[in-house]
Amino acid sequence: MSETKEKIGFDSLYWRAARRFELRWQDAGWEKNHHVSTAQLIRVADLTVVGDNIEHGINHDPSPVSHTERLLDALPVRGTETFIDFGSGLGRVALLAARRFPEVMGVEFATKLTIDSERNIACYRGPLRCRPKIFNKDAAEFEIPSDKELVIWFYSPFQPPVMKKVLDNLTNSFRQNPRRISVMYCAPFFRDLMDNVSWLKEQPLPIRRSFFKDRLKHVFYTSEAL
Ligand SMILES: C[S@@+](CC[C@H](N)C(=O)[O-])C[C@H]1O[C@@H](n2cnc3c(N)ncnc32)[C@H](O)[C@@H]1O
Repeated sequence: MSETKEKIGFDSLYWRAARRFELRWQDAGWEKNHHVSTAQLIRVADLTVVGDNIEHGINHDPSPVSHTERLLDALPVRGTETFIDFGSGLGRVALLAARRFPEVMGVEFATKLTIDSERNIACYRGPLRCRPKIFNKDAAEFEIPSDKELVIWFYSPFQPPVMKKVLDNLTNSFRQNPRRISVMYCAPFFRDLMDNVSWLKEQPLPIRRSFFKDRLKHVFYTSEAL
């Protein structure tokens, strides 16, 4: 029995490692085809940032392309919303979203990442519905547009103090103008903060599962029915 367990453990580790390698390989193909460079792992501590929240920032680690595309395609949205990626890094999610939405914003507090993401957007080859606009700002200080329906995206960008402030800003924006707002939180380590936002309701998302059955962990919410 224990031998079987060990074997299963080894197999699953083996497949997970193989899958990670396959994802990196696929991402490298996407980068080459689109003339961008968004794959680097970068420590926030090595960067110069705007604002006072460097100790709450999570390092740059790009979203896997195929998982993100699957999530974007599954969103129950109209496709007319403004998309905002909080912690936009080197611009990968902003570019993937710009194929699907008419307006895309990224909010990134590291100045170098903002500049490099703007270079990626300028160099990008491929169809886009819009050119993403990147704001070099601390997410906690970003003014959320209150006149637009929104799709908000978080790929594990920051820790609770900043997440709480962003959710408070989003709540104020919603109270000012109650409207359709969708929120995707990938790698949702602090999901309890979002579960406690009274006007956001978690929704199941129909995701086509990959052959390897793993997927990017996520939670998805929409504003309560209006
Ligand atoms: C895990 S990376 C995600 C990058 C990109 N969204 C993606 O999915 O490919 C998190 C990003 O959040 C940024 N970040 C962390 N704290 C931030 C803050 N307070 N305001 C804005 N950006 C922040 C980091 O610099 C990093 O680029």
